[in-house]
Amino acid sequence: MRKLFRNIHQLYTVSAHSRLFKAGKEMQDAGLISNAWMSIQDGNIEGVGGMDTCPSASEFQEVVECKNRIVFPGYCDSHTHIIFAATREGEFVDKIRGLSYEEIAKRGGGILNSAARLRATTEDELFDTALARAKEMIGSGTTAFEVKSGYGLSTKDELKMLKVAARLKSSLPVTIKSTFLGAHAVPPEYKGNQAGYVDLIVQEMLPAIAAEGLADFVDVFCDEGFFTPDESSRILEAAAKYGLKPKIHANELAVSGGVQVGVRHQALSVDHLERITEIEVEALKHSSTMPVALPGTSFFLRIPYTPARMILDADLPLALASDFNPGSSPSGNMNLIFSLACIQMRLLPEEALVALTLNGAYAMGIAETEGSLEPGKAGNFILTRPAQDLAVVPYYYGFGMVDQVWVRGEKFQG
Ligand code: NIG
Ligand code: FE
Repeated sequence: MRKLFRNIHQLYTVSAHSRLFKAGKEMQDAGLISNAWMSIQDGNIEGVGGMDTCPSASEFQEVVECKNRIVFPGYCDSHTHIIFAATREGEFVDKIRGLSYEEIAKRGGGILNSAARLRATTEDELFDTALARAKEMIGSGTTAFEVKSGYGLSTKDELKMLKVAARLKSSLPVTIKSTFLGAHAVPPEYKGNQAGYVDLIVQEMLPAIAAEGLADFVDVFCDEGFFTPDESSRILEAAAKYGLKPKIHANELAVSGGVQVGVRHQALSVDHLERITEIEVEALKHSSTMPVALPGTSFFLRIPYTPARMILDADLPLALASDFNPGSSPSGNMNLIFSLACIQMRLLPEEALVALTLNGAYAMGIAETEGSLEPGKAGNFILTRPAQDLAVVPYYYGFGMVDQVWVRGEKFQG
């Protein structure tokens, strides 16, 4: 089956010429072809080019006219926690009244609140609500995402979450990667015995998860009040024996040492980085680890934004993700992340687009097949409503310029 998209006002391919990410100044080039065509064969990109080289419509089973519209790759959201049992709007109101995320966590709110609710919820119920969230994400332009465990905090309940992730993978047309985040918080039954909980992760949870092949990656919340760099290292070393590559939560609440731990263990990504300094930037240079910013969390918790300009000026790459979770970022809408990145982090629209697509794909290990519109890659893309320029997408914040979302060459219908 061959499909032709033609008369595209602007086609942003985000081509990196077969490289797996873009860094620094390169991110200003999002591979724009004006007045373009793109063809898809059996779900994959077949070709792209300017209309002067457009193939004849008679060669295709379907022809889509894209006059006045912009086409760019679907968003690759490399950091979410969409499997959760209940919303936490009570804590939201507490935050409006002045409590901080850390204070709420200390009172037994936060991640432990979500864990108590998740333990009391069946796998089927978790699956139904996560599926609905995932469909909403795809409908708003996300064509690949990662999902973490970390609200179970017992072997049985972490496995339950990862089984839900496996069911999402087989129920949706998009690529989904799953991450084991047993080290998200210390559950109440291990209060005062954090070392005992780390033992449980290493000796019981990791072997059980690996035996069922339920995780692609491993993650640790390496931050003040959560897990130390030493504990994180221990978990990552144990996970490496099962072939699980790390993705680390670091420097959200304090300069935690988590970036250095991630780099040392060749993490695929280090995420959050709201408190990054020159030392972390230096550690990331000469590494293969992708820094990931989560501006939805900065917005929702009123904490600093990851200093994106400092990262790009150091010639590093950057990815952007939603962090969709019930406590610190209850939205999976990557269009809003696009706007926050431009407005609050001063990324140019082209830079933000690269961070939301190709670099996000790299942060979940799928950049060889997704993240840009290059021949051979998946036909995953967004077709906008009529718009003169890419900048209109982040400019109309909270409005949604996405008209159609195509996954593997098929229009997503919800
Ligand atoms: O990425 N930082 C740790 N974990 C989540 C928040 C989880 C929660 O509050 O439920 C995050 O921000
Ligand atoms: Fe997170």
